[in-house]
Amino acid sequence: MKKYTTAVLGIGVRGMTHLKGLIESGRFEIVGLCDLELEKAKHGAEFYKLDVPCYTDAEQMLAETKPEVFVFVTHPNIRLPMVKLAQKYGVKGVSLEKPMAESLREAREMAKICRESGIKAIVCHQQKYLSQMQEMKKRIEDGDIGDIVKIHVECQPWMAQLGTHFVDYALWVNGGYRAKWVIGHVSGRATLADSHPSPDFIMGEFLMENGTRAYIECGDLAEAHRDPGYEDFDNRMTVYGTKGYVWCETDGWWGAFTAKTKGELVTGKNPGWYHHQEKAIQTPYYREYAAWLDDDAQVHSCNIDTACHGYEILEGMCLSALDNTRVYLPITNVDYEPVLDRMARELPDVGTKLRTLYDGKLPRKEYD
Ligand SMILES: NC(=O)c1ccc[n+]([C@@H]2O[C@H](COP(=O)([O-])OP(=O)(O)OC[C@H]3O[C@@H](n4cnc5c(N)ncnc54)[C@H](O)[C@@H]3O)[C@@H](O)[C@H]2O)c1
Repeated sequence: MKKYTTAVLGIGVRGMTHLKGLIESGRFEIVGLCDLELEKAKHGAEFYKLDVPCYTDAEQMLAETKPEVFVFVTHPNIRLPMVKLAQKYGVKGVSLEKPMAESLREAREMAKICRESGIKAIVCHQQKYLSQMQEMKKRIEDGDIGDIVKIHVECQPWMAQLGTHFVDYALWVNGGYRAKWVIGHVSGRATLADSHPSPDFIMGEFLMENGTRAYIECGDLAEAHRDPGYEDFDNRMTVYGTKGYVWCETDGWWGAFTAKTKGELVTGKNPGWYHHQEKAIQTPYYREYAAWLDDDAQVHSCNIDTACHGYEILEGMCLSALDNTRVYLPITNVDYEPVLDRMARELPDVGTKLRTLYDGKLPRKEYD
């Protein structure tokens, strides 16, 4: 099978995981690595035994290696310039991390560039490959909970960290229907100073075209389901249907109350996200990407248009909160002051302190 020549930029924590998935998928040939810190690129090459040039400059890498695919694994502040570079150097595919941007205007521009240049782009909402997520989706597709009625997301990490994942998963489990309107509330300004700027807490609702409602609570005021100290990995998505409900958490826990469980709430624990599944799921993610690069009809479940719609839902919730109104989608005019700037100016200080995700505290092994 064809292998796509691929240049990878940003060889930090996640960059190493992307490299593993690209290599293990067997469908990508790495031709260059780049990081502002050259040592990180060299470490990636050495760790994966890659005999490739290492760079500190993105443009030089693209000009010299002429890849078919450009993977960049940076923080959200520099995505649009990277997509513009991808367009300039005529790549066929772009793979980037979440959140896809820092404003809807920027996200739309990135999606437009990719559409107009024929670039197949994916945004890394890959946790849908976790075994408990796949099992939950199968229960829903098998009709175990009847017809979906509503979806409830609770997560302690904030909007730009985990909210972007879970909006994507809510759209995914509901069969890909788009949202018609959103309403939201935001509070707390400390997290706007994070590398993934967000309000400390966002709570919102959106109605999808098939009548399913989704409710999302994201940040410090969301209900915790696990012990204190576990906040960075504490999350849950519950899907309610006409005949029962199912839930799962990214770190492995799941529950099902369905016709098949005969009136009992059955719960379980699959391998944990961080210690066991995180690196493994990057491989099917890249296999699915190669399948889309091979065949236009096999559109990736993490394609940039779906990610852009997810971004629109979250930005719509922020706008709803700032303007005290329901926001109808699609948002047609994105030529407004960026909501992150507005929140920094308008949200009152509620006395919270900036929390840094993971902060050197990974989940304890006993959670596996
Ligand atoms: N999908 C997921 O499950 C998941 C999980 C964790 C993090 N993430 C996301 O992955 C992204 C990266 O996170 P990370 O923890 O790997 O960060 P990181 O800081 O460890 O790595 C980022 C790397 O990019 C490099 N970089 C930045 N700008 C560059 C440039 N212009 N040219 C070359 N290199 C540049 C930095 O030097 C750094 O090594 C974030 O957006 C984060 O939200 C996703």
